[in-house]
Amino acid sequence: MKEIKVENLFQYINPMKLNTEPAIALASDGKETNGLTIGWAEFGRLWRKPAMTVYVHKARYSKHIFDGADYYSVCFMEPEQKNVLGYFGTVSGRDENKMKNCGLTVLEEDGVPYFAESRAVVICRIMGRNDFDAFSCDDGVKEWYLKDGVHTLYHGEIIKVLVKE
Ligand SMILES: Cc1cc2nc3c(=O)[nH]c(=O)nc-3n(C[C@H](O)[C@H](O)[C@H](O)COP(=O)(O)O)c2cc1C
Repeated sequence: MKEIKVENLFQYINPMKLNTEPAIALASDGKETNGLTIGWAEFGRLWRKPAMTVYVHKARYSKHIFDGADYYSVCFMEPEQKNVLGYFGTVSGRDENKMKNCGLTVLEEDGVPYFAESRAVVICRIMGRNDFDAFSCDDGVKEWYLKDGVHTLYHGEIIKVLVKE
C-alpha cells in the first residue's frame, strides 16, 4: 500500500456512504487484537488535528480492547469482500478468533494492525474517549439506547492514510 496525504482521503472513500460501504475497525491492547465492522464514524478536525471518531458499543467484545489501545485502524474493504464485512459484523471475538479465521493478512503500520487486502486504511492515535450521553439526546437517538448500554466514542488523530497501489 502507499501513503497519501490525509486531505486526499475522500478521493478514495465516501464518508457519507458508510451505511452501504462499512469498514472494519481494528485495535490491539498488546495482549489481543480484534476487529468489528463499523457503519458509524465522523471525520473532521478536532483539537487542531485531522480526526476520525468511531463508535464502539459497550456490548462489543472489541470494547475492552479499544479501551486498552493507544491506536486503531479503520480498514475500508473492496466490494467483493462483503462476506468479510458480514463476518466481522455478526460474529463476536467472544466466540471465535476472527483475526485468525477471517482469511485476511494482518500487517502492521507503526505497530497498528490492518488488513493487507484493504482498499484504504486510516490509522488513528486515540486522543480521547467518552461514553455517549443517552440522556441529553432527542427521542429518535434515545431509541437506540433503551436496552443494552451506549456507544463509547474513540476520538482518533489520523496519523496515516494508506491506499492500495
Ligand atoms: C454494517 C454493520 C455496521 C456496524 N456498525 C457498528 C458500529 O459502528 N459500531 C458498533 O459498535 N457496532 C457496529 N456493528 C456491529 C458489530 O460489528 C458486531 O456486533 C460485531 O459482531 C462485534 O464484534 P465483537 O464482539 O468481536 O467486537 C455493525 C455491524 C454491521 C453488520
